[in-house]
Parts: sequence; structure tokens; C-alpha cells
Amino acid sequence: MVSGRNLSTVLKGKCMSRRALITGITGQDGSYLAEHLLSLGYQVWGLIRGQANPRKSRVSRLVSDLSFVNGDLLDEGSLVTAVDKVQPDEVYNLAAISFVPMSWDQAELTTEVNGMGVLRMLEAIRLVCGLDKSRDGSSGQIRFYQASSSEMFGKVVESPQHETTIFHPRSPYGVAKTYGHFITRNYRESFDMYGVSGILFNHESPRRGTEFVTRKISLGVAQIKLGLQDKLCLGNLDAVRDWGFAGDYVRAMHLMLQQDEPTDYVVGTGCMHSVRDAVQMAFEYVGLDWRDHVVIDPALVRPAEVETLCADPSRARVELGWEPSVGFEQLMHMMVESDLQHASRERDFGDLILASSW
Ligand code: NAP
Ligand code: GDD
Repeated sequence: MVSGRNLSTVLKGKCMSRRALITGITGQDGSYLAEHLLSLGYQVWGLIRGQANPRKSRVSRLVSDLSFVNGDLLDEGSLVTAVDKVQPDEVYNLAAISFVPMSWDQAELTTEVNGMGVLRMLEAIRLVCGLDKSRDGSSGQIRFYQASSSEMFGKVVESPQHETTIFHPRSPYGVAKTYGHFITRNYRESFDMYGVSGILFNHESPRRGTEFVTRKISLGVAQIKLGLQDKLCLGNLDAVRDWGFAGDYVRAMHLMLQQDEPTDYVVGTGCMHSVRDAVQMAFEYVGLDWRDHVVIDPALVRPAEVETLCADPSRARVELGWEPSVGFEQLMHMMVESDLQHASRERDFGDLILASSW
């Protein structure tokens, strides 16, 4: 049995001088994954879109030693050029329109990025490596990770959900992710590519976008505590999720690409909490009663809700040796602590944090 410290030394030895290309580098998971891979000795490139993406400087500040390459999941040529330039050993496709409500407003764009974008990335790898295989045996295949989602389970047919649970997506986001999931599997089966999908359940952190419910709550609680606002508007408090810490989940992404045989994994904690639980924990942490501050806004309730999600992460535990290290209450407290610091800078120095109106 290899201990945690020994495992990380072994991985570090194996990973020295490997190259990784991460799409979605400016997002929550991109920065944690880049930090993790750099700590293992990888050379890490992040795909950046747009001519002056303001989030580039933020991720550069968070993660030094990153390199960047231009590209957009909507532009096949840019992906071919990026893969050819970086010559990666591993590609992590994290880029997506990831906020579910936006997928009803921009369903076509969401499908293009989250569905067709996966196909474009797979084709870019195939083109750079020669069309028959994703690279010949001597130099080793380019390994591909696809960020699949528990949203694919949607209106769940069983609980907890595992790798073979049938999908019933409930949003254009979930439908597009389901296409990305199956096209990754299909390229594995058709072209012998090393492609895996991580079916990740919700994961959060102080770096989470303010439109997602946990961060909306932690930021709202901090601002209420410091007298910057009085009310927090939310939608469906009964929704239940399996929430974990993003820093833990990026370790699982990397481990999936180190297996001899490519296969898909469910990653989650196996613990369920409601949005109401999250609200209660966050307000209690700062000594306030949530009932005095939370307002239900029917406009925030979704056209088709995913009521409940819960992972069965047994395969990841047994085959990857992966375990989450942060529980949900600890996670909410970590996020409120971080937002108390942000909010006090906002109060004292006028630093603006853009709270979400979603
Ligand atoms: P996030 O913070 O919203 O980041 C999304 C990233 O995608 C950003 O870097 C964004 O870059 C990039 N992007 C969007 N459109 C693009 C395009 N056309 N071309 C290139 N890049 C584009 O998301 P996250 O929470 O880190 O999630 C990472 C991935 O995991 C996503 O695919 C998400 O759907 C999936 N996932 C997340 C969770 C979760 O709970 N966090 C769970 C399951 C699956 P810009 O700076 O250019 O906008
Ligand atoms: N965002 C938000 N804002 N959600 C709210 C609110 C609110 O004011 N009030 C209640 N909710 C409920 C939503 O209806 C949903 O049931 C739950 O809180 C979680 O919402 P989000 O945090 O927006 O996450 P999500 O579950 O829709 O999607 C996230 O997790 C997926 C994995 O299951 C995203 O990260 C997706 O990209 C990811 O695939």
C-alpha cells in the first residue's frame, strides 16, 4: 500500500517534464488543476479565448509558471494550432458554458461550446497525431479528459448515481454535456483514443463564480454580516446536491488519465445536502438567523429542475484511490471566511466584487 505522501512522490517522479493543455484555464477548476499539475512537475499550458480576456491576469496571479496558447472551442483551426504548438501528453477539456440557467437563454451557443466543442477538441487531437490513432505507440498517445457532469443524470432514475446509471438531462446544458460524454466514449471505441469522462458532481471553492448557489450564499452572508446588504434572494431551497471541494476533484481528473485502461468515473462525496442546509450553515457561522434575510424569488426557479443528486464514487475510490478531504460544512465555512475578507476589502477600500443577479 502506497501512503499519501509516497503516492505524491511517485506521481511527481512520473510526471516530470510531461506537458498538459487545459481548456477553461480561467475557470474555477482550471486554476486548481493547473496548480496541482505544476506541483507534480508538469509544464502547463492554458487555452485562452478572446483578444483581451480580463480573467487571464487573474489566473496568472493565482498560478505562476503557467503558459498560454490562444484558442476557442468554437474554432476548430485554433484548436488544431494549439495542440500542434503545445504537443501535450494530456489534454483536459474543462471549457464550457457551465451555468445551467444560461443554457435556456442561449441553448444553441451552449450546444456549440459544450457539445460540438468536445468533438472539435477530439478532432484536433486526431489531426495533430495522424488520423488513425491519437498518436503512435512510440511517443505515447495524447490522453484526453472530458469534463462530464452529474447534470446528465438530471431527473434521476436511481440514487445514488454511478457510472452506468441512465441519463435524463433536464437542461440544454445537460443535453450538450451528454453529447460530449458519448462522443468521447465513441472516439475511444472507434479510434482507440485514450479518452475518459469524469462525471463530476457539484464542486465549489472560494474561486467559484458568484452566480452559483454556494458562492452566492457565502458572498451574500459576508455582505450581510458587514452591513453591505440586508437581503439574499434565492430560488428553490429544496434542491439537493452532493457538494465537494474543487481542489479535491482536480486530483481525481489527473488520476483518471494515469490508469492503464481508459474508462469513465463518477466523482462525488456520496453526501446529500439541500440548498436550505447550505444557507443555514453559512448564516449560523456568522451568528445570524437566515430567516431574517433570505427572500424567495420565483424568477430564480428553473423551468425544469434537477431536484436531487447523489454520487456513488465507489469506482473512483477503489480504482483511483481517490477520497475527498473536505466535508460540506467545512467547505461552506471556508467560502464564508474567504468572502468575509473580500467583503471587508469592498467595505474599506471600495474593491468591487460583482455579486450575481441570477
Ligand atoms: P467555469 O468556472 O465556469 O469555467 C468555464 C471556463 O470555460 C472558463 O475558463 C471559460 O473561459 C471557458 N470557456 C467558455 N467558453 C469557451 C470557449 N468557447 N472556448 C474556450 N473556453 C471557453 O467552470 P468550472 O466550474 O471550472 O467547471 C469546469 C468544467 O467542469 C466545465 O466544463 C463544467 O461544465 C464542468 N463541471 C463543473 C462542475 C462544478 O461543479 N464546478 C461539475 C461538473 C462538471 P473565459 O474566461 O474565456 O470565459
Ligand atoms: N445558481 C443558483 N442561484 N441556484 C439556486 C438558487 C440561486 O439563487 N436558488 C436555488 N438554487 C438551486 C438551483 O435551482 C439548483 O438546484 C441548485 O441550487 C444548484 O445550483 P447551481 O449552484 O447553479 O449549480 P447546478 O447544480 O445547477 O450546476 C453546477 O453543477 C453541475 C454538476 O451537477 C454547475 O457547476 C454545472 O456546470 C455542473 O455541471
